[in-house]
Amino acid sequence: MTTMQEGLEKAAAHFSKKKVLVTGGLGFIAGHLVDRLTEWGAEVTLLDARPEYDGDLEYIHGDVRDYDLMSGAVKGKDVVFHFASILGVEKIQLIPLDVMDVNLGGTVNALKACVEHGVGRIILTSSSEIYGEPRVIPTPEDTLPSPVSIYGVSKLAAEAYCQAYSQQHGLQYTAVRFFNVYGEGQAEEFVISKFLARVANDEPPIIFGTGEQVRTYTYVSDAIDCTLLAAASDKGINEVFNIGGAETISLIELARLIGEISGKPMEPEFREFGDAGVREKGREVFARIPSVAKARAVLGYRSRVGLRQGLTRTYHWYLKNS
Ligand SMILES: NC(=O)c1ccc[n+]([C@@H]2O[C@H](COP(=O)([O-])OP(=O)(O)OC[C@H]3O[C@@H](n4cnc5c(N)ncnc54)[C@H](O)[C@@H]3O)[C@@H](O)[C@H]2O)c1
Repeated sequence: MTTMQEGLEKAAAHFSKKKVLVTGGLGFIAGHLVDRLTEWGAEVTLLDARPEYDGDLEYIHGDVRDYDLMSGAVKGKDVVFHFASILGVEKIQLIPLDVMDVNLGGTVNALKACVEHGVGRIILTSSSEIYGEPRVIPTPEDTLPSPVSIYGVSKLAAEAYCQAYSQQHGLQYTAVRFFNVYGEGQAEEFVISKFLARVANDEPPIIFGTGEQVRTYTYVSDAIDCTLLAAASDKGINEVFNIGGAETISLIELARLIGEISGKPMEPEFREFGDAGVREKGREVFARIPSVAKARAVLGYRSRVGLRQGLTRTYHWYLKNS
């Protein structure tokens, strides 16, 4: 079996000189992906709805719902990483139709354009949210999906479209289901960023509900390692992989760990779900813990950054950049 290091070396050789489009390319996880791909010598084009970009890569400003724009961006590419998406618990509840429109409609446009221009493979970023409250824990990929959020529905439907396009048109795809990715550059509305911001300001992290919810948090470089291993391997063709870190922790333990790392140990503050405005009781999935046995067996994936190390890096980044 190939080791992770050998797999990454093969992936680096695979992507060197490849023409790659990254939709949602100015986003948090995509930013880390793009750094790795450019380091490996890929020719990367970014497409994003954000108007501002001051880097050196080719940048296409626009919306994945615009088919002509997407088709023009996809033309001539070897691989498409489709990261553009609407996410975030609060945002999703406010604009449910846009979520379907962008997450599913944007994916369909990407698939159509890939078929039109004969692109080698599309990588879809899916989510642990497709499982809803999982029936099996740790959750393997073949667990019956049961999404409880519109976001989860949009991602599940996007996966199904990939499968249908591959069967009808021979398009190759790889779907990666990320589990709670965190790290440098993540937006403020996600739990780790929120906890870090509170602690940095000497305020206790706020927990909605009992804080007993458990999650496997994935440091962003682990997510990128696994995505690239899957994207470069023949064993990743028309397959779906869970991508997760090595450690699982409750929200209370996470809040305490962040306090400890920052040198400001403190107890979290508890609130009822309703206190968060649009956040509603009953929405929160209790356990999100992946089985990454498939990625380990097929791709040789291993998490390389533990939670304490990843949180420490992210905290220092936050202090420098806030
Ligand atoms: N962060 C996580 O923990 C996590 C977990 C599961 C899945 N994912 C998936 O991974 C991908 C990247 O997530 P992220 O955390 O980096 O999010 P992000 O919000 O930082 O990145 C998404 C990017 O998509 C762009 N975008 C949104 N709508 C667009 C549109 N209509 N047209 C063009 N661009 C548009 C945004 O401007 C943004 O730059 C997404 O597909 C997300 O659903 C993330």
